[in-house]
Amino acid sequence: MIPINAPQIGEEEIEAVVKVLKSGIITHALGAGPMVTKFESAFAKFVNAKHAIAVNTGTAALHLAIAGAGIKRGDEVILPSFTFVATAEVVAIAGAKPVFVDIDPETYNISPEKVEKAVTKKTKAIMPVDLYGLPADMQPIKEIADKYGLIIIEDAAQAHGARYKGKPVGTFADVVCWSFYASKNMTTGEGGMITTNNDELAEKMRFMRSHGEKEKYKSLMLGHNYHMPEIQAAIGCVQLKKLPKFLAKRRENAKKSTTKLREAKSLQLPKELKGYKHSWYLYTIRLKGAKGKKRDKIVEALRQKGIGAEVYYATPIHRMPYYKKFGKYRLPETEKASKQVLSLPVHPGVTAKQIDFIGETVLSLLG
Ligand SMILES: Cc1ncc(COP(=O)(O)O)c(C=O)c1O
Repeated sequence: MIPINAPQIGEEEIEAVVKVLKSGIITHALGAGPMVTKFESAFAKFVNAKHAIAVNTGTAALHLAIAGAGIKRGDEVILPSFTFVATAEVVAIAGAKPVFVDIDPETYNISPEKVEKAVTKKTKAIMPVDLYGLPADMQPIKEIADKYGLIIIEDAAQAHGARYKGKPVGTFADVVCWSFYASKNMTTGEGGMITTNNDELAEKMRFMRSHGEKEKYKSLMLGHNYHMPEIQAAIGCVQLKKLPKFLAKRRENAKKSTTKLREAKSLQLPKELKGYKHSWYLYTIRLKGAKGKKRDKIVEALRQKGIGAEVYYATPIHRMPYYKKFGKYRLPETEKASKQVLSLPVHPGVTAKQIDFIGETVLSLLG
């Protein structure tokens, strides 16, 4: 099977882990060990941010951002329903209400016009997601946030290396959350990072990462244990160095896939709009006019041929059993996309020959 994603781990990562184990320093009481600190500095530099705070998952990063921003019961947060559940989950954990907004059918990202319509007196934050690795349209979102005094927490879990208007993704947000889960463009197995230019928020989120402590056993605020272990940070340092190479290979694979599939009139292919640089976390195609069953049959047929096609996301969050309690939503573009999209392997481990095979198999299944 050609998997939809595969961690790219080499000897350097193994050596880095062994070195940490031999050093005897495998964690730090406040979550700020030498490897974590090194990884934070390197990542902050990479995304051009003043602060980076390493945590143990992308979900923890999102939760710290929400908690750090003081979002609480009675507050509303605007976000897409067409994303991984963690984006909405952390809002619910804080006791606030996720307010789901529809997407743009071309980019699959939150529609800025629909964001503005969803703003109420209770709105505290907007959480755009850079879905599949394509940045959300942040400039109009920033204008809305400034107009209504809202904070922007960007979910860039899928977008390491993406750029928007010539700058690293995240530049227009107050807080940016990253994931290093095994499938991501760079990985630490499990892991996450928060980046921000806001000194006050950064300090607060650092304390909250470690039980609300500035010093041990003197909690200043409610917190958690979201420490990233030293082993993970050591892997992260190596992966970050390799990231440009990974991204180049993803880009090459995406380009080849587009060349191969361009002739299929029934497909909507992923685009890199002007001013956007995709991170190609996923290469997602759309079966125009399909109603779900046809898409599912093609996914199954691809798997039968050894191609690990996947659907992100067949169930939008507002349709998930737990999340129905947050209200009835009419999100036609989200519903349509959830029935028509499927993602194909594009990761750095996929060879040119395999990209040809994937393309030819898709074309043959379309008939
Ligand atoms: C869009 C999005 N948000 C949040 C997350 C959560 O990250 P993690 O799995 O590291 O908790 C992920 C990845 O899994 C994701 O793809």
